[in-house]
Amino acid sequence: MKIGVFDSGVGGMTVLSELRRRFAKTHFVYLGDTAHVPYGTKSSAQVRKLSAECARTLSAQGISALVVACNTASSLALGEIREACGPGIQVLGVVEPGVSAALEALQQKPLGAPVLVLATKATVKSGLYGRLLREKGVTVFEQACPLLVPLIEEGWTDHPVLHQVVEEYVSSYRKSHPTGVALLGCTHYPWIQEAFQRALPGWTVVNSAQAIASALSCIVGTTDPSTGSRSQESQVDWIFTDPDAIPEFVLPLA
Ligand code: DGL
Repeated sequence: MKIGVFDSGVGGMTVLSELRRRFAKTHFVYLGDTAHVPYGTKSSAQVRKLSAECARTLSAQGISALVVACNTASSLALGEIREACGPGIQVLGVVEPGVSAALEALQQKPLGAPVLVLATKATVKSGLYGRLLREKGVTVFEQACPLLVPLIEEGWTDHPVLHQVVEEYVSSYRKSHPTGVALLGCTHYPWIQEAFQRALPGWTVVNSAQAIASALSCIVGTTDPSTGSRSQESQVDWIFTDPDAIPEFVLPLA
């Protein structure tokens, strides 16, 4: 079975790592649209067009399911991606698994504790995370963090500037709420999960990668936990629309 994983760039590798751990014998095709990243600052029309093009490229690879690892594409372009893939390919976005993971973490919190969605501008503007969570009666805040993707891609994942920017984005929520759930609604943010946790003591920071892997297992009907070394892990074919635009810090993951 071949499974496609699509992201606007390299951020989806945080999701792919979890999928490779859970689906040891699966053949993955990863497409990172490095020629057009970031999607998070683009218009919804641009995100839809670019996402559909990438979906067509991946569907030509003979995949039977597609994980849209990019939160921005999942929020804005799932319909176009499904249309581009056609009926033979199951398409899974990351927003619903992320919402499920946040709701699960919220069960451990006092009644009325909020969910803070941290995401790109385009994801926040789509309002999808907020709508799905409010439908469940949850208090939701959505914070766009546009400075973080460039800092992470620069490899500044533990840099004082990164910590200062994270503090700017989250301090008002920490001051108004001693506890809550912070949902990482962008593929890049798992790389700085500790920075968010440091800025939000008392909060639970949720990375939805595990929930995405579980949702995929429901779709493809199996999980195949890897118990051994990396050499037993799944095969990955890499497609980058601009191979020269891959940030150096992710190269050990490829
Ligand atoms: N992959 C995008 C996301 O998860 C983040 C990077 C971008 O802006 O393209 O929303």
